[in-house]
Amino acid sequence: MNPFEFRNPTKLIFGADQTDALAEEFKKYGKRVLLVYGGGSIKRNGLYDQVINQLNEGGASVTELSGVEPNPRLTTVHKGIDLCKENEIDFILAVGGGSVIDAVKAIAVGAKYEGDVWDIITKKATAEAALPFGTILTLAATGTEMNPNSVITNWETNQKLGWNSPLVYPAFSILDPKNTITVPRDQTVYGMVDMMSHVIETYFHKVDNTPLQDRMCESVLTTVIETAPKLLDDLENLDHRETILLSGTMALNGVLSMGARGDWATHNIEHAVSAVYDIPHAGGLAIIFPHWLRYSLDEKIERHVQLATRVFHVDPTGKTDREIALEGIERLSAFWTEIGAPNRLKDYDIDDSQIERMAEIAASRGEFGNFKRLNKEDVVNILTAAL
Ligand code: NZQ
Ligand code: ZN
Repeated sequence: MNPFEFRNPTKLIFGADQTDALAEEFKKYGKRVLLVYGGGSIKRNGLYDQVINQLNEGGASVTELSGVEPNPRLTTVHKGIDLCKENEIDFILAVGGGSVIDAVKAIAVGAKYEGDVWDIITKKATAEAALPFGTILTLAATGTEMNPNSVITNWETNQKLGWNSPLVYPAFSILDPKNTITVPRDQTVYGMVDMMSHVIETYFHKVDNTPLQDRMCESVLTTVIETAPKLLDDLENLDHRETILLSGTMALNGVLSMGARGDWATHNIEHAVSAVYDIPHAGGLAIIFPHWLRYSLDEKIERHVQLATRVFHVDPTGKTDREIALEGIERLSAFWTEIGAPNRLKDYDIDDSQIERMAEIAASRGEFGNFKRLNKEDVVNILTAAL
């Protein structure tokens, strides 16, 4: 494995009814709180009232920013930054899924930056300071609750960009599985596809000697594969919600990627697709990933074979490595289709008219992908295969 340093400062507060820990936690950071949430799911399921009670109990003076959209937008981030500056906010609380938390990360650094936060997102400037923030996660998917990443969309330029900073690890994240019970079926499926994709991105590297990391990745994948059908049969089952919630965090909090950097090209391609079509992130991943896997077969086929045999239980007897790997990809794809994920771009009414543009966006920072290097032409090939 490669040498590495590991530090994850986010305090994870995990378990049923842990939302009640909020009052004690936020008080450490100040009284003037900006509460940020999405389109209203927290009002419909009662979490909003619970949060307000906790904030009152801790003596907060609360300013609100609601309406953070899925695939959060720069315009909303700007609104949040203005609210922080006008109200001299001490602490930001994100209550929602990945979109709300990612928006709060950008607000937190933007509130401490003189220029436009887009400079930081586009890497023209580096964040030097951030307001402290905490999260109450309501959807198991992205891992943003315990990582330093954020993804923001600028609709004026059709850019959906990932950025990161050690300053945007949440100070604390409350993961109460009860808060995920109302996640609708489709979002539950997307969440599971997203966390599986994070593990698969992590798994595809060319670094030697990562036996423990491999086994940990395979465990997360196997756990999600075993739990998904049970959860989808019984969406209110707290045990299954809890298992999936922890899986999502473990998939992208840095533990699995110790000593080896994964590929991440599929995420880059998906971000280009959702920058043009505004589709759900994991819907795009479910469509693109099997094609990337086929496209990267010849890079280091042992990785493909190991995934196929250990996670998808492909019987290798009498088969070539290529046949084993392809069967593994088929099984992954069939699993995602079975649980209800889309598998072709046409499922989102996407035709070939914008493929060049999406490929240009994906390759706008040059070649990308750590397991297999891709250029614009490769992206055209992968997206065309996915039509
Ligand atoms: O907005 P509300 O009304 O809250 O509804 C949301 C939204 O419509 C709803 N929802 C969330 N929790 C719910 C709920 N509905 C009922 N009950 C609940 N408990 O679900 C919808 C989707 O929410 P969103 O936050 O957009 O989903 P997700 O968590 O999948 O986040 C997706 C965003 O994260 C980015 C994606 O690109 C996308 O922009 N990602 C961020 C990453 C990171 N920061 O590390 C990594 C990922 O790979 C990903 O790219
Ligand atoms: Zn993702």
